[in-house]
Amino acid sequence: MTTAIEDAVKFLSAGKLVAFPTETVYGLGADASQPLAVEKVFQAKNRPPGHPLIVHLSGLDAAGHWALGLSGDALRLAQRFWPGPLTLVLPKRPHVLPQITGGQETIGLRVPRHPIAQALLHAFGGGIAAPSANQFTRLSPTTAAAVRQELGQAVDMVLDGGACEIGLESTVLDMAHGAPVLLRPGAITAIEIEEALGRPVLLPAPGKPLAHRAPGSHPIHYAPRTATVLVEAHRLIDLWPHWLAHERPFALLARQAISFPSADGTCCVAMPEDAHKYAHVLYHILRKTDNAGFRTIFIENLPSGIEWAALRDRLTKATAPRGL
Ligand code: TXA
Ligand code: MG
Repeated sequence: MTTAIEDAVKFLSAGKLVAFPTETVYGLGADASQPLAVEKVFQAKNRPPGHPLIVHLSGLDAAGHWALGLSGDALRLAQRFWPGPLTLVLPKRPHVLPQITGGQETIGLRVPRHPIAQALLHAFGGGIAAPSANQFTRLSPTTAAAVRQELGQAVDMVLDGGACEIGLESTVLDMAHGAPVLLRPGAITAIEIEEALGRPVLLPAPGKPLAHRAPGSHPIHYAPRTATVLVEAHRLIDLWPHWLAHERPFALLARQAISFPSADGTCCVAMPEDAHKYAHVLYHILRKTDNAGFRTIFIENLPSGIEWAALRDRLTKATAPRGL
């Protein structure tokens, strides 16, 4: 065991907060069995109480301590996709702290595959409650520096694992209310889950309250502080002169090669054509442009394929009208 992991285990055991890398984004970890430690997570994030936290585990064999009914379809998914970017929402065991479940009867469980997360979870032995290590409604961090920017001194230790491989939060699937419901799209797509289960995955009915609270379904989320606007690809050429006149300084994140003449107060960022590469860099680029003091960040809208579903979800939330 490396010294950093040993220190992190000591901190967690003492009820302190340890941020750690996962393959999706950085998590803000606390011992899931200590109420005061879990309380600190909410304070550090300015997250209102009542929003459930994911409990991270070292492996499938630890899940039965936290959840009831990990059998049938849920077991099949865990065997197929853990360790990996899938969170399963399952009926909880009676001892699970109400702060973790948001007072609900379910618990979100995930086994991350990042080697540092795995080393930490194996060395710690218990469950680690960890939301993304950002301020409530803001961009999830994908580097250790971004964690520090979001949380400052509120986090006792940050394990640095470099840039997260995937760059978007895990797929969240409700397996506690009968038919599987996709609460948050992620790197594991609804189609992959349907293939593994041999039955359809449902989407939450629009406009209807969920049977459970999900902070990721808050209309503004994953958002930069700078005004951020999605723009259809075919409108970019027409809008450019208007932006030059009225929106400077602005940034444009576009996948298509743009040959606009460079002008003061404009910044064009070439985004990858491949969805996985796009996800890997998105939050890092958004954070950098957000920190650079632009008046507006324009983002070229995304294609409609399934591989872009999680990115469309995050960008729709990042660009939701403010003041809701
Ligand atoms: O990739 C990830 O999932 C990252 C890394 C650190 O694992 N974590 C993360 O946690 O994104 P957080 O708290 O930022 O988002 C967790 C999502 C929220 O949308 C929350 O509502 C949902 O999972 N969730 C957790 N427990 C739930 C439950 N019992 N019922 C319904 N939704 C739940
Ligand atoms: Mg989050």
